[in-house]
Amino acid sequence: MTDNLTQISFTINGKKSVKWVKSSLMLIDFIRDELKLKGTKPGCLEGECGACTVLVNGDAINSCLYPAVKTDGKDVVTIEGLSVPGQPIHPVQQTMLDHGAVQCGFCSCGIALSIKSYGDRCKKEGIKPSRQDVKKSLEGHLCRCTGYIKIIDAAVDYIEKVSV
Ligand code: FES
Ligand code: FES
Repeated sequence: MTDNLTQISFTINGKKSVKWVKSSLMLIDFIRDELKLKGTKPGCLEGECGACTVLVNGDAINSCLYPAVKTDGKDVVTIEGLSVPGQPIHPVQQTMLDHGAVQCGFCSCGIALSIKSYGDRCKKEGIKPSRQDVKKSLEGHLCRCTGYIKIIDAAVDYIEKVSV
């Protein structure tokens, strides 16, 4: 079976890029191996753990299940692109630290991106989510360390701040 190369044009963390990719190449491998952005973590590689989460056009997706070729014409943000100019880390990351929502950190990059995406959506659509809504928005993420309460506390706090 042939696996032809396709040219894609996309934005990665604010920078335009053009690359040739195989149709079988998953976005996580493209990001980590070709773009050398190692903050996107490989966990289950089956769409179950959320460690590989990145933003595509603002939506949090599992990059282990997302063909790299589908990013053509799209805007991709990884954890390396999340920080705000002039600040070492993004407010969502600071809020996670403030709540003790980071331990080993393996799940944290994906969770930070999901919280950011959900916060942006709440702001755009004027949604005031309940704690249960916030918890549901993070259902696709597994964390072996925190017990989730601190992560949900951080997400609720961040989303309350950004969605006013
Ligand atoms: S590595 Fe992608 S969901 Fe687990
Ligand atoms: S902080 Fe260790 S897996 Fe979540």
